[in-house]
Amino acid sequence: MSHARDDTQAIRWVGDHLSLLDQRLLPREVTYIACHDADSAADAIRSMVVRGAPAIGITAAYAVALSARTHFARAGAAWRAAVTADLAMLRETRPTAVNLMWALDVMAAACADIDGDPYPPLLALALRLHDEDLAANRAMGDFGASLIAPGSGVLTHCNAGALATAGYGTALGVIRSAWRDGRLAAVYAGETRPWLQGARLTVWELMQDGIDVSLIADSAAAWLMAQGRVQWVITGADRVAANGDTANKIGTYGLATLARAHGVRFMIAAPLSTIDIATASGADIVIEHREGRELTQLGGVEVAAPGVRALNPVFDVTPAHLIDALVTEKGVIERPDRASIAALCAA
Ligand code: MRU
Repeated sequence: MSHARDDTQAIRWVGDHLSLLDQRLLPREVTYIACHDADSAADAIRSMVVRGAPAIGITAAYAVALSARTHFARAGAAWRAAVTADLAMLRETRPTAVNLMWALDVMAAACADIDGDPYPPLLALALRLHDEDLAANRAMGDFGASLIAPGSGVLTHCNAGALATAGYGTALGVIRSAWRDGRLAAVYAGETRPWLQGARLTVWELMQDGIDVSLIADSAAAWLMAQGRVQWVITGADRVAANGDTANKIGTYGLATLARAHGVRFMIAAPLSTIDIATASGADIVIEHREGRELTQLGGVEVAAPGVRALNPVFDVTPAHLIDALVTEKGVIERPDRASIAALCAA
């Protein structure tokens, strides 16, 4: 099957190092940052040079390969203890997106089986995880698009696109495939306060592909739905618990609630690496809180009343009963619940 265009690469392996598109500067500047060791890759995750659940996982996988290269050069056969410390350091960079922990677990398991120089096999594994994520996104895009009736309007939130993944995107992969198939009458992107992933990243990415997108204020979503302009809300996910409760960018829960109130359907597109069977329900998901100045400042300029205290949770949890479809690379689950998610993961 042919695929919609998608030229954006947030993560590149270039020769001997990791090259990350600095998403803090988009869309004003397209600048890549070089990471030659695990510390710089961890800093890039913490500071949101790279963000989005799958992209964080892939970056962490490369970081483990870099760590192994550093420590094998320094300590020879004693490299494992230092890499184990780096695994723990990387695990603490961001708490909510489980793709980070998933990728680190895959890399840690591989470390246990290596004799000799660990760098070549660990780099090969990171490259494989990178490729597999791209393939998963393309599959999800086509599965998700098949649910969308021609002439539909769709609303997305945050950035679950090429910038958040190996390429093509999860939610934006569905939108790319649906656009390619001529199913979409309109695409809307919420600006996604406070970090503005929608305004800065999603609309930039879609415009590069020639997909006609309208930016809306987050607070315009109810009006848009009441107007009948949206048939699907489509988002990615940072962690899907065993019962289907799903953490995603703050505001997703509000959109899912609004969607149900207006008869609009709500779709989550997420690879299996985002499903966390070990987390029983949404109540067990750790929600990251970030600095208040992400709220009180815009572009580095103070806009709130000086001295105000700001509460800045950056994810929320949408209960499973509000999710009409969970799209993965293995196919679609309608109305996901504990049994259907267990069956999907066992298949
Ligand atoms: O804080 P961010 O920008 O890392 O949050 C990203 C999101 O919430 C995305 O929707 C999610 O990670 C899915 S990305 C395919």
